[in-house]
Amino acid sequence: MGENNLLLKQLRSLTQGETNLTANLANISAFLYDQLPDLSWSGFYLFDSAEQMLILGPFQGKPACTRIGIGKGVCGQAFQTKQTLIVENVHLFPGHIACDTATNAEIVVPLISSQGASIGVLDLDSRKFGRFKAKDQQFFEQVAQIVENCWN
Ligand code: SME
Repeated sequence: MGENNLLLKQLRSLTQGETNLTANLANISAFLYDQLPDLSWSGFYLFDSAEQMLILGPFQGKPACTRIGIGKGVCGQAFQTKQTLIVENVHLFPGHIACDTATNAEIVVPLISSQGASIGVLDLDSRKFGRFKAKDQQFFEQVAQIVENCWN
């Protein structure tokens, strides 16, 4: 079994049998932060329909900004377009929101419910330029699928 497949299997068993969303998101962010190399932050921003904003969810790493407008920053853009965004150098990304000035690279994967609704984003940051590559996209989208299953 490849290394990524093993990680996906471990993530599935970590969340299996637990129905509490906060508990699952907390464990998923901790697992990714602990297991993947060169991460400075891993966590979630969740869509609040009343406020029409992304609000900070469970995460690992330094304290982060609590609210992100739809379409703002990497997170808000990935959420709005429902597309994964890989940013090799955040300093070149127009509108990037710098929660931690030491962050240099980022990937944000939108989370879509089984009914097709946008529910939030998975956000991973790194101090290493180019930490996330196009070839990593499939793996992180598989992680997002495991996260999405936690809503069911
Ligand atoms: N950099 C993100 C904001 C969230 S922090 O990285 C944790 C963005 O531009 O959306």
